[in-house]
Amino acid sequence: MTTAKLLIVDDEKDLLQLLVKRLKRKGYDVEHADSAEEALSLLTNNYYDIGVFDIRLPKKDGISLLKETKIIQPDMQIIMLTGHGTIETAIEAMKYGAFDYLTKPYNLSELELIIQKARENKSLKDKNESMRKLIKQQNQFHIVGESSKLQEVVQLTKRIADSEVPVLIEGESGTGKELFAKALHYWSNRREEPFVALNSGAISETLLESELFGHAKGAFTGANQEKKGLVEVADGGTLFLDELGEMPQAVQVKLLRFLESGEFRRVGDIRQRRVKVRVVAATNRQMEKEVEEGNFREDLYYRLNVVKLYVPPLRERIEDIPVLIRFFIEKAKKTEKIFSDNTIKQLESYPFPGNVRELQHLIERGLLLSKGNIVEVEDLLLSPISSGEIEKPLTLKTLEELEMEHIEKALHTLSWNKTKAAEALGISVRNLYRKIEQYNLTER
Ligand SMILES: Nc1ncnc2c1ncn2[C@@H]1O[C@H](COP(=O)(O)OP(=O)(O)OP(=O)(O)O)[C@@H](O)[C@H]1O
Ligand SMILES: [Mg+2]
Repeated sequence: MTTAKLLIVDDEKDLLQLLVKRLKRKGYDVEHADSAEEALSLLTNNYYDIGVFDIRLPKKDGISLLKETKIIQPDMQIIMLTGHGTIETAIEAMKYGAFDYLTKPYNLSELELIIQKARENKSLKDKNESMRKLIKQQNQFHIVGESSKLQEVVQLTKRIADSEVPVLIEGESGTGKELFAKALHYWSNRREEPFVALNSGAISETLLESELFGHAKGAFTGANQEKKGLVEVADGGTLFLDELGEMPQAVQVKLLRFLESGEFRRVGDIRQRRVKVRVVAATNRQMEKEVEEGNFREDLYYRLNVVKLYVPPLRERIEDIPVLIRFFIEKAKKTEKIFSDNTIKQLESYPFPGNVRELQHLIERGLLLSKGNIVEVEDLLLSPISSGEIEKPLTLKTLEELEMEHIEKALHTLSWNKTKAAEALGISVRNLYRKIEQYNLTER
């Protein structure tokens, strides 16, 4: 167990000193306050595992302190100290979530025993909490799809999860690369260690290096404090390098050195540091081509590409579409709705340049716009295809097309009364005239 942090609140100074001294000797990290007000100011800035509060305190009493503490730090285990005549209050304290109480005068070993129990209770609770979080995280990356193409990737992911070799994940945008990166982590024996993601495309070169490896104080303007790099934060776990293809050459060199030796230096620091992380990188570019064109270092590519996971585009595994639709309906908590057979059929012939992410958005939109419980193609705001044009892939309507249709519908419904139509559309009559001209609308 790590050192437990204790906060003792009592206004009897002699007793307080004695208690603090003794508990410190027992290896606890102890802080103290002699009023509820002082305790609260400590509680807003520091985290404690266990509190020992006297019920009778000057001004604000121990019960009020207990109530407020439970709001600020609900997980803290609190033991109440009660003098003669306040036992009923102590019992009341249990209702407000105190862990236990002790009647004064007490002997110190008695208190130590209760503190020890509170501590065990706390660490059990912490363990349950982290387990709950873990389960939640594991549920977050439910990988849906029964196609053999996807299942092959799933099986490979499971096989290599425990290994330490770097993995390169390739695939078009929205295919689920990040999902597989997380699966590599949560299906491995590193699952309780950190999973840390860094997007190479999102930041400048200098910042990227310092994000990755950290920096010393004063290493560059703005580096007012020393900072740990993400490689350190991820120590023991997984470092996910997203958008690898965007990584500048200067950072590529440093990453290569790190992968070869496990060692690195913070920017502006001479000390060599060492960590153990599993590196997983992802890209929607074809890295082989990037290497050929000289945009990406060949040596680094080979280092990272010990195992490649290729996530195939959705249009190559259309069997996954119906199950994904069901999955996203459930995720949106709209289980009363279904997609009509025709809608599913149309979606199966759509090329999905944005892959699963695009499918998810289409589904969400369809669920939102459908009037009854059956989601029809129109609800997805895709351009309908006329018969004979089945081969032509579905495309999303542009906003302009939608606007034109909407205006035409308003005019038609209101028998081309432009004043009324403008009012219904929430635009000025002048603006409506302009739109009629722009879209070449005529009365049918
Ligand atoms: N097989 C799947 N089952 C369930 N959800 C999926 C699946 N594939 C992708 N998703 C979901 O689709 C969305 C996009 O996936 P993800 O972010 O992993 O894609 P990506 O390949 O990293 O995309 P990009 O290249 O744009 O970063 C996420 O919300 C993810 O949870
Ligand atoms: Mg991604």
